[in-house]
Amino acid sequence: MKRVFIIVLDSFGIGELPDAADYGDQGSDTLGAVKKSPFFQMENMKRLGLFQIEGCGKDRDPGQPVPVFQGAVARMEEQSRGKDTTIGHWEIAGVVSEAPLPVFPEGFPEELLERLRERTGRGILCNRPYSGTEVIRDYGREHLRTGDLIVYTSADSVLQIAAHEDLVPPELLYQYCQAAREICQGPWGVGRIIARPFIGSWPDFTRTANRHDFSLEPPAPTMLDLLKEAGKTVISVGKIVDIFAGRGITEYVRTENNADGIEKTLKYMEKDFEGLCFTNLVDFDMLYGHRNDRDGYAKALAYFDSMLPRLEAAMRDEDILIITADHGCDPDTPSTDHSREYTPLIVTGKQCLKGVNLGTRQSFADIAASVLDYLGVKQNCRGVSFYPQIRALNVERLAETAIQARQQSYAPYSHFCVGAALLSEEGEVYSGCNVENAAYGPSVCAERTAFVKAVSEGKRRFRAIAIAGGPQGDQPSDYCAPCGVCRQVMEEFCGPDFLIILAKSRTDYQIRTLKELLPEGFGPGSLGSRKESAVK
Ligand code: THU
Repeated sequence: MKRVFIIVLDSFGIGELPDAADYGDQGSDTLGAVKKSPFFQMENMKRLGLFQIEGCGKDRDPGQPVPVFQGAVARMEEQSRGKDTTIGHWEIAGVVSEAPLPVFPEGFPEELLERLRERTGRGILCNRPYSGTEVIRDYGREHLRTGDLIVYTSADSVLQIAAHEDLVPPELLYQYCQAAREICQGPWGVGRIIARPFIGSWPDFTRTANRHDFSLEPPAPTMLDLLKEAGKTVISVGKIVDIFAGRGITEYVRTENNADGIEKTLKYMEKDFEGLCFTNLVDFDMLYGHRNDRDGYAKALAYFDSMLPRLEAAMRDEDILIITADHGCDPDTPSTDHSREYTPLIVTGKQCLKGVNLGTRQSFADIAASVLDYLGVKQNCRGVSFYPQIRALNVERLAETAIQARQQSYAPYSHFCVGAALLSEEGEVYSGCNVENAAYGPSVCAERTAFVKAVSEGKRRFRAIAIAGGPQGDQPSDYCAPCGVCRQVMEEFCGPDFLIILAKSRTDYQIRTLKELLPEGFGPGSLGSRKESAVK
């Protein structure tokens, strides 16, 4: 029973995107800011590879080898124009937004208000950005006297309607909001219409718990829709159900806070289902990011980190856990608004390789593509699946084959013995060893021996190679990285995520990608006009 759990750490950005300046967010780095707090503690996320993500390892000594980590990681770039929760989550679910959701700092246009008056038969008061408590104090009496609705907005993409429960019962207010939702589409398509009922008398009006949100529906099918159509279970924990206007969700629970969200996710881990459980932990953003509370943010992250081992322990063999974010909200910048940042991707589970760095991915939508790929659902939303790169392969068997191949090494001159085991896309393994020559020059490395064998048998696409090399002796004494010429041969036949396993023994190895060992390589694509190699 295949299950994917996505946990969105709301606003946990990891550094400015290249276009951050267009959003006034130059230099924003949420992780960088919270890391300075004395309460910052993310040992488990570190173990999974948080600080191996591009741009997150500023404290890594470039001379030192990459530490071993247990997840598959990447840095995620946002393609959508925007930095809000809705657009970020939609992109995670495979929908890229070309324009940000509209905001109305000057109030809503007259044409929109006129249509709202027609639909509700009531006049409109305020029509400006306003604080929710002040707006009822300042307009509540006029509202009660005239019956007009209090319509206001904020810095966010929202249209809010406040009304006294004695004059407009909540059910009627919801109908008005539904009408507003139908009017507010296209260029007026605000993220949310919010019903804000209140009670009492001036100056002690108070808002009631009957608040209700009417979200904009995603403009295209999301991975949630595709999963639901395919008969999978799609569970929302927290505000996911609102972000997607309920679409594509088969079951939902709301949450009180992060701790509750984590507990409810753990509860779902105990249940049998096939599909997706999508959790949003909003406290990072709502309680700490927007309030520029760096220590509070750090403590909330430390709490999540301390719960990670429980989440990992509750996972079953066919579960994949994805931890990511929807945007940034740097608590150290003067702005209390979201920030345009990269987000982290951490993937773990028995079906996934450990210690793989996928570099920087071009869109959050790669998550949707990968989830659909793993769950075997036809994809027609944006994004490129990274699942083929992290799909579990038998690393130990490949390492063992390389170690055995090393025994055939012919190295009478250097006494440095190397074995390699190359895995083709089709699943065959080709082994090789180094073969030296008295004339030195004609010597061939183990990796190239394996490549030549495989290519001469018609193979052209490869997933991984294990390399075991070191001075003559039973076991290699260290990790042996491929020489420059072998890296160049890999560039010819392999994509940037080709895995290079440096094996000291069957169980002691480190994984690199070709992109890490040969950045900006010269490949078949470099000769023609096409940028990409024929095999990438
Ligand atoms: N060697 C390999 O087989 N692969 C490598 O990636 C590094 C070097 C061999 C070539 C030569 O026979 C010996 O190691 C010493 O350089």
